[in-house]
Amino acid sequence: MSIGKDVPMSEIRLGIIGLGVMGRRTLDVAVGHPDFTVVRASDVTETDPGVPFTTNPEEIVTAADVDAVYIATPPAFHADLAVTALRSGKAVFCEKPLAVSLADAQRMLDAATETGLANAVNFALSDRNAVRYVAEADLGTVRGVDIRTQFPRWPRDFQATATWLAGRDQGGFVREVLSHFVYLTDRIAGPLTAVETSVDYSDGPDGTGSEVAARGLLRAGDVPVHVSAMSGLAGPELYEWVIWGTRRSFMLRNWAQLFVTEGGEWQPVELRGESGSEHSRLTLFAEAIRGGKSADLADFAAGYRVQRAIEAFHGLQA
Ligand SMILES: NC(=O)c1ccc[n+]([C@@H]2O[C@H](COP(=O)([O-])OP(=O)(O)OC[C@H]3O[C@@H](n4cnc5c(N)ncnc54)[C@H](O)[C@@H]3O)[C@@H](O)[C@H]2O)c1
Repeated sequence: MSIGKDVPMSEIRLGIIGLGVMGRRTLDVAVGHPDFTVVRASDVTETDPGVPFTTNPEEIVTAADVDAVYIATPPAFHADLAVTALRSGKAVFCEKPLAVSLADAQRMLDAATETGLANAVNFALSDRNAVRYVAEADLGTVRGVDIRTQFPRWPRDFQATATWLAGRDQGGFVREVLSHFVYLTDRIAGPLTAVETSVDYSDGPDGTGSEVAARGLLRAGDVPVHVSAMSGLAGPELYEWVIWGTRRSFMLRNWAQLFVTEGGEWQPVELRGESGSEHSRLTLFAEAIRGGKSADLADFAAGYRVQRAIEAFHGLQA
């Protein structure tokens, strides 16, 4: 996966598309990142990001002076932008979820495979020290995984302006949050297939609102993966992922707190090393552009596998 010898080792010319919550955050990181120069940015809404700006994202994905593109639009727009960028010779770092349908995710994976260009998905857990710790630990035989998330309010406060998250066509916590934990389970336990999945909507099956509850049984090979997620309830916001092994089990709570048990009470794990960030994932993306490959950065193939599992909740699995 490389965009070849024409890319200077010191500077990758980056275009950024979508300047909302995530796009702004990554823009701030990328302008100070030694591997990148942000040469262009785009949003459909007029704004001044401090770099050359256009309201036409098509200009970025086809621009001759752009080597790589970071896409942080709402997910329904990822596929067309990513496919055009790849087919125009650009490496692509795309926000999760890859897309809003398996067909779009497949188009993206096909373009990545056929062009051979660097491709990555920004799953925030991919380079966490907690995740590396679990990946390297001796669990014995893995007997099961539990994923539990709950949200007092959906969308959450930090994304209150991202109104698409409340809609069924591209929002909902299954795509927005469960995708991270499906990615993590795929990474640690292997590719998932859906056995039984369902969601509830507060405005009924024919409404437009995103789900308020999701539950399911998936399997990573023989390993059962139980999912339970709810929104609009009295209680703390919670993100809990537990992997049960015969030798030891781990619980990752609220993204970064890792606990272990070898039979007794959960004990906190003292983690060392970098905890993972937009900065470190941009570094891994730069390495991928220069021909490297890291297990700590998700690629479109992983993004596709995640899409297959999460779309099963919406009854859209092929
Ligand atoms: N990796 C993570 O941890 C993480 C966290 C939050 C969000 N996300 C993902 O990032 C993406 C963006 O989420 P957000 O919270 O920033 O949403 P947002 O609504 O805050 O931002 C999206 C931006 O894209 C712009 N936009 C809409 N359509 C566009 C188009 N066709 N071309 C260019 N710009 C367009 C909007 O004007 C808006 O500024 C989503 O895929 C979301 O799932 C990832």
